[in-house]
Amino acid sequence: MIGTANGRPISITGLGAHVPDRVLTNDDISRLVDTTDEWIMERTGIRERRIAAPEEAMTDIALPACRRALESAGVEPGSIDLLIVATVTPDMTFPSTAALLADALVMPDAAAYDLSAGCTGFMYALAQAYAMLAGGLAKRALVVGGDVLSKILDWHDRSTLVLFGDGAGAVVLEMVETGGFLGFELGADGAGGVSLWLPGSGSRHFEEPDRLVKMNGREVFKFATRVLVSSAEKILAECGRTVDEVDVYVPHQANVRIIDHATRRLGIDPERVVVNVDRYGNTSSGSIPLALDDARRDGRLAPGKLVLMTGMGAGLTWGSSLIEWTEEMAA
Ligand code: ACO
Repeated sequence: MIGTANGRPISITGLGAHVPDRVLTNDDISRLVDTTDEWIMERTGIRERRIAAPEEAMTDIALPACRRALESAGVEPGSIDLLIVATVTPDMTFPSTAALLADALVMPDAAAYDLSAGCTGFMYALAQAYAMLAGGLAKRALVVGGDVLSKILDWHDRSTLVLFGDGAGAVVLEMVETGGFLGFELGADGAGGVSLWLPGSGSRHFEEPDRLVKMNGREVFKFATRVLVSSAEKILAECGRTVDEVDVYVPHQANVRIIDHATRRLGIDPERVVVNVDRYGNTSSGSIPLALDDARRDGRLAPGKLVLMTGMGAGLTWGSSLIEWTEEMAA
């Protein structure tokens, strides 16, 4: 799917993020499985990641991010009429994490549901919220992206354990006077799904549940380097923009080598790229909103800046969006 915004400007007017307190360093991991800080740094660029406490679930990680996003937008929770949560680690399959969050935040008028598109979930959720606002179905949306992947990792598998971390981010979307979203490109390739999957998570392998992440790292690496470039090029062309116009590039934070490859191939100045995978690892749907929050703290998200976001992940899925930043947001 690809399309440009053609209605009244809709933008991100609030932004918040949250990660659990516990830091797990590469050295900590090397005491659990056969690996080293050198190997992890060289292959991934990840130094440390945050890991949820045993009693923490997705809503616990998301709630502080939602509160910060609402506060930064200066809006009351009760004024939200759409809440979408992109996650593959909901508290449980049902009730949805979104319904639980809407209750905790007191949003009696909100339609609330979860969305599953792997690590690309946040990009899919942004596009849906944009479309519901543009179509007049909703007036003010809260979009959450986050995961607690530590709960579904195989803690004996060094090839996946080192990559992931926990975290969430949230944004408020509403109509604005100028700027905002310029377009979206989203895609999926189920044939490649087996490269990154959770076999025992649904009705297919119910009798023999295997509830831990499985990944073919090399295949995912090839896919990631391909789609980060192709999706960004497609959305730039569709919106009539060039890569030189991009002020802030926010790629999915999976691996520094993947980000560097995409940055080089696209020809984006490395100073314009947001990288925080070294501190958080791959937080799945939390990755892009966490990176946006870092860019905001660095003062990079000034009004008028052109921001390119591209996600990719399980499905296999990918998604890009261009947005002309609208709001001055306090750090
Ligand atoms: N420590 C030490 N050695 C390891 C580790 C580890 N943590 N993990 C794997 N190895 C070993 C392998 O066993 C293999 O050994 P062998 O040659 O004796 O068989 C060797 O290292 C090389 O393994 P490769 O898989 O070829 O290593 P590669 O250079 O491809 O790096 C990595 C592996 C980092 C996983 C890489 O493939 C990658 O980043 N892939 C993309 C993964 C990803 O980003 N997934 C998520 C994206 S989608 C989403 O966000 C949900």
